[in-house]
Amino acid sequence: MPTWDSIQYLQFADQRTRPCRDLAARVNVATPGCVIDLGCGPGNSTAVLMERWPAAQITGLDSSPQMIESAQSSYPGQTWVLGDINSWNADGKEQFDVVYSNAALQWADDHAALFPRLMRAINPCGALAVQMPGHFDATAHRLMREIAAEPAWKDRFPPSGVREWHVHNLPFYYDVLSSCANHLDLWQTEYIHIMPSAQAILEWYKGTGLRPFLDALKSDDQQSEFLESYLTKLSTAYSPRADGKVLFPFRRLFIVAYAAK
Ligand SMILES: C[S@@+](CC[C@H](N)C(=O)[O-])C[C@H]1O[C@@H](n2cnc3c(N)ncnc32)[C@H](O)[C@@H]1O
Repeated sequence: MPTWDSIQYLQFADQRTRPCRDLAARVNVATPGCVIDLGCGPGNSTAVLMERWPAAQITGLDSSPQMIESAQSSYPGQTWVLGDINSWNADGKEQFDVVYSNAALQWADDHAALFPRLMRAINPCGALAVQMPGHFDATAHRLMREIAAEPAWKDRFPPSGVREWHVHNLPFYYDVLSSCANHLDLWQTEYIHIMPSAQAILEWYKGTGLRPFLDALKSDDQQSEFLESYLTKLSTAYSPRADGKVLFPFRRLFIVAYAAK
């Protein structure tokens, strides 16, 4: 599992929280009593849930002690739990009206087993609401893999490769969830983030997608060299507009699965 840095992550808090708001706004559960935010990070997504459902009892869960500490210090009155989504609620004892997860389940294992397990934690008329990035093959990700596969870099990474995030397409989630949900709402959106430079895209991914690559490298020097190479490639692939700004397309998948009455 990669290491996380809340300060690096929150550099782009507005852009990262927008899909979280878009998802919360579409969840048609009027007054949930209890809600859990899986992979809550520094609490930015949980804060959106507090606004959306002010009367609900809301728990944030994350496997990174650093993220939970950051959430705790920003929102001391809330319930924060250090835990792993992969083993969370394995005995099925916890039940929620909304199980919510923004930009986290792509780091969890075996979605064919995980999503039905999460559905079993939903009370009648409640919902599972998930947003994940949907662009594993986007240029910025392809470039990280391309560098790691170059002869100069290959041997510096584990022979089994780097454990990256993963997602499937929406039909996969339909197939996995249709038999355990009363009805499903599935959609995808491509946000076009307007970034000040290609360097900003690098900074964005230093908080997420680059983590497994950087964690696998042995020294700060190797990390700096890898980032330098990545920036060179990013600067060619994401060329500036006339005003110097860089357009950064980012596709995201949204899934809301409602439980039966
Ligand atoms: C990209 S951040 C998302 C943070 C927040 N939900 C948001 O909307 O911005 C992903 C978070 O998922 C957490 N995470 C990744 N794998 C996890 C797992 N297996 N169990 C619990 N949390 C996990 C990470 O620690 C990180 O805080």
